[in-house]
Amino acid sequence: MSPQNIYILGIESSCDDTAAAIIHNGKILSNVVASQKIHEEFGGVVPELASRAHQQNIVPVVHQALKKAGISKDQLHAIAFTRGPGLMGSLLVGTSFAKSLAYGLNIPLIDVNHMQAHILAHFIDEEGFEKPSFPFIAMTISGGHTQIVEVKSHFDMTVIGETIDDAVGEAYDKSGKILGLGYPAGPEIDKRAQKGNPKAYQFTKPKVDGLNFSFSGLKTAILYFVQRKVKANPNFIEENLNDICASIQYTIIGILIEKLKLATKQTGIKQIAIGGGVSANSGIRQALKDGEQKFGWTTYVPKFEFTTDNAAMIAIVGYLKYLEGDFAEQDVMASARLKI
Ligand code: KG4
Ligand code: ZN
Repeated sequence: MSPQNIYILGIESSCDDTAAAIIHNGKILSNVVASQKIHEEFGGVVPELASRAHQQNIVPVVHQALKKAGISKDQLHAIAFTRGPGLMGSLLVGTSFAKSLAYGLNIPLIDVNHMQAHILAHFIDEEGFEKPSFPFIAMTISGGHTQIVEVKSHFDMTVIGETIDDAVGEAYDKSGKILGLGYPAGPEIDKRAQKGNPKAYQFTKPKVDGLNFSFSGLKTAILYFVQRKVKANPNFIEENLNDICASIQYTIIGILIEKLKLATKQTGIKQIAIGGGVSANSGIRQALKDGEQKFGWTTYVPKFEFTTDNAAMIAIVGYLKYLEGDFAEQDVMASARLKI
């Protein structure tokens, strides 16, 4: 078997998406995601329900990924799975499934760090998307994570900043909850922000040293602001929703860009790649583009389906590790707090 002809199955089950993808060399042949709607009515992910849904979804999702790729499981060279970080019950479903399948097929098992995968998603072969060259700065922004990482090579990465409380997506979702929006609120705040005045209201930015982030104070500031305004005018939210959303977005993007500026200054690296669900945000995309003009940055935003939680990013890491012969043993354990 030549190294030019490798098929790998990637499995992702760290949070509330059950996903499977097939990669052929560096190219994705199929990328299937079963998103769990059940959490919407609770306004956030319920871990116990997530594990149960993974258990229900994993076999059909893997089956569909193979079918869409047009290959049979006997053609697979290895199984890559998310080992962590994430919700333990959810991780256990993917881990156990991957182990059993690799054992049954007698092929290598490859453990993948979910946070590394968000970054390495940039190395999927995709027409119209350039791969960053090393070294670069990666910023992963989603409902579960907010990190700035210095990436020296595929597997030599150092976290140089991260949130000390809420993730940036959580800041969006919690602000949305205060405003009575559905979950997840990020996309709707983004949509409304584009129709509002970003300078209508000012929210104080949290003061956190260095490259770390804090978003819980912002959420509290928004809560008190809304409570005060609603007391004076019960229709305040409905009458000013677009402006409120635009002001929240302006504040959040301002925080992210400030930290990126500091990161480029500290490291001397001007290549920036982003990943995670919040990289779909129109404000951050525009701000990065502006940064190319203003600060001489080169920026990379992956294809949308590779930014939110997905298995294509697990499969690409599986492929890169396969090439290095970096395999896991059958006694590998899921790890909820796995670090980069
Ligand atoms: O990566 P993801 O699908 O799942 C994890 O949390 O790992 O990210 C979901 C998060 C949610 O918090 C959602 O509100 C946020 O990404 N999000 C957005 C946008 N699209 C998704 N936040 C701001 N603007 C968006 N356009
Ligand atoms: Zn993620």
